[in-house]
Amino acid sequence: MQQTLIVLKPDCVQRRLVGTIIERFEKKGLRLAGLKLLTPSRKLAEDHYAVHKGKPFYDSLLQFLTSGPTVAMVWEGREAVTVARTLMGVTDGTKSPPATIRGDFALSVQNNLVHGSDSPENAAAEIKLWFKPDELVAYRPTDADWVG
Ligand code: RTP
Ligand code: MG
Repeated sequence: MQQTLIVLKPDCVQRRLVGTIIERFEKKGLRLAGLKLLTPSRKLAEDHYAVHKGKPFYDSLLQFLTSGPTVAMVWEGREAVTVARTLMGVTDGTKSPPATIRGDFALSVQNNLVHGSDSPENAAAEIKLWFKPDELVAYRPTDADWVG
């Protein structure tokens, strides 16, 4: 079953939108496999966004991600990476369509509430950065036959 890393960024926690956003993933049918509240260290933020090193927004992005508590989660299910990215919408909140998380709650490009892995390979690498293996929980939800 495919897994993806979702991080609710500091703006999401500060704006008290954690429950609202988690509900989107939960109601879609994805299964929660890991969850924790943490303020990312500079090292974790650098490793997580290493692909953006050198870009004009990189320093600001690291400052933002390390500025306060985040909620790190692993969600799993069929096509979890793509499903989560579709629920999130596009990077710029002003361009993200209604009924997406960023479309409904974000105006900013940087402060866009949520991170989601962009490929199964990156998801596996990112999950290793944020979670120890024993922090992930395997189980079969009772509605699995209905949700698919
Ligand atoms: P994410 O990695 O957080 O899921 O977001 P994404 O794929 O939609 O966007 P990406 O291009 O990977 O950018 C990572 C995060 O950097 C911030 N950003 N700021 N000021 C800017 O031009 C700019 N561009 C990107 C956003 O927080 C974006 O989500
Ligand atoms: Mg990205």
